[in-house]
Amino acid sequence: MNWEKKILCIGAGYVGGPTMSVIADRCPQYKVTVVDINADRIAAWNSAQLPIYEPGLEQVVERARGRNLFFSTDIDAGIAEANIIFVSVNTPTKTFGHGAGYASDLQYLEKTARHILAVSEEPKIVVEKSTLPVRTAEAMQRILDSNDKGIHFEILSNPEFLAEGTAINDLENPDRVLIGASETPEGQAALQEVIDIYANWVPRDRILTTNVWSSELSKLTANAFLAQRVSSINAVSAICEATGANVDEVAFAIGQDSRIGPKFLKASVGFGGSCFKKDILNLVYLCRHFNLPEAAEYWEWVVRMNEWQKHRFTKRILTTMFNSIAGKRIAVFGFAFKADTGDTRETPALTVVRDLLDEHALPVITDPQAIPEAKNDLADVLDLVEFTEDPYESVKGAHAIVICTEWQHFKELDYQKIYDSMEKPAFIFDGRNILDHQKLYEIGFEVTPVGKAGYSRL
Ligand code: NAD
Ligand code: UDX
Repeated sequence: MNWEKKILCIGAGYVGGPTMSVIADRCPQYKVTVVDINADRIAAWNSAQLPIYEPGLEQVVERARGRNLFFSTDIDAGIAEANIIFVSVNTPTKTFGHGAGYASDLQYLEKTARHILAVSEEPKIVVEKSTLPVRTAEAMQRILDSNDKGIHFEILSNPEFLAEGTAINDLENPDRVLIGASETPEGQAALQEVIDIYANWVPRDRILTTNVWSSELSKLTANAFLAQRVSSINAVSAICEATGANVDEVAFAIGQDSRIGPKFLKASVGFGGSCFKKDILNLVYLCRHFNLPEAAEYWEWVVRMNEWQKHRFTKRILTTMFNSIAGKRIAVFGFAFKADTGDTRETPALTVVRDLLDEHALPVITDPQAIPEAKNDLADVLDLVEFTEDPYESVKGAHAIVICTEWQHFKELDYQKIYDSMEKPAFIFDGRNILDHQKLYEIGFEVTPVGKAGYSRL
């Protein structure tokens, strides 16, 4: 087959898998290969049971897999044949040494760069898809330039803005695609190659181009701004609880101001996910590195506010339930960090469950997608926690329900039936404000939402 481009993606995770599937689906003229060192993950991508749950993903993969989309562990062969290599490996927060707890751990990225260097025999375009600290491309360029084969590698930055749960729609209809390239003729030629890929389905005016450093920094900044909005509304939720204001009404009122806008103003038990905390801490580290301690502290408070919100939520459970939850069965509705994903990285539910365990409560976790991940996350306390996919099972004999994830499924349950099977008084702590609180109260529940008055007979 005479492919117009051969595209490789190194890293078959939450970003690499869906992003490449959409590129392959939209561009049948390209060969798209996704490789990973994790053989189980690749096997899952090649099976009927994909390694991640994402609405719409299965259909996209089914259309392209085997036609022009391939998943493989043969990284050498992938690198050798590719013209364009996207690097989408994980970049977690460093847990050791200098910068531990803040800086990005770039070891996977560096290994990838060295692998590309070792195998390549001809020039390649290397695209940073992973979220990276500003000026990472410089380090990558140095590694790749260290070859003695006379090969030129051009490094571009093309951060990914997809959100889990809506990844396919975000990829098919992005608000924007951002590509950073150097201003040299080689940089501009490589830029055009990557623009050409997205231009197959993204309107040209939504494909933004910048220099490499602006592109790298824009990704960290976008996540910092989004997380900051959630922390801001969560800070306001505490003021609402103290004053009798209603956080959903306040959010709606301020969101009508077109300068503020309505999105990312939903008060909650706290934000989770693999990106927000990691990317802000990375920004904090950069600020400190460039001797900007005030800017560092400003951003760090977004994460601190989130930690406070999560613990504040469990403290309210404790005080509302007469300061004693030891020995009480508590149903935790949702363990994923948000609805429509099985991902539990940095999920607020984990903090809640660990807080409940500290109080010697008996948590029972129910989630339609995240039970396997929940079991991994709680591997050290498996004998103290129960798991079930059936919410009706989880509530039998429970004193309380704690909603941690806003699954649609939880809104549609028969709460009269649930109430009947629980101990009394039966409490609901709605960490996502998704249920009809008045109706629950009429059934008999004691209801505690986030950021507004609850319903109680006690
Ligand atoms: P992930 O952990 O799901 O996937 C990364 C994959 O890279 C893993 O399967 C791992 O085995 C593989 N890998 C690591 N080193 C490798 C190597 N040397 N060779 C081949 N494969 C290797 O991570 P993710 O959630 O897909 O995130 C990837 C990057 O994208 C991160 O930088 C993240 O910050 C960024 N990002 C994530 C999201 C998101 O919603 N998850 C959104 C935007 C950006
Ligand atoms: C985020 C960014 O949105 C995305 O652009 C980036 O590429 C990756 O990081 P993601 O973490 O997948 O995406 O989900 P997101 O929808 O941003 O939600 C993050 C967390 O904030 C979730 O726990 C969510 O429940 C919470 N959240 C979000 C709120 O508590 N309130 C809100 O109003 C919005």
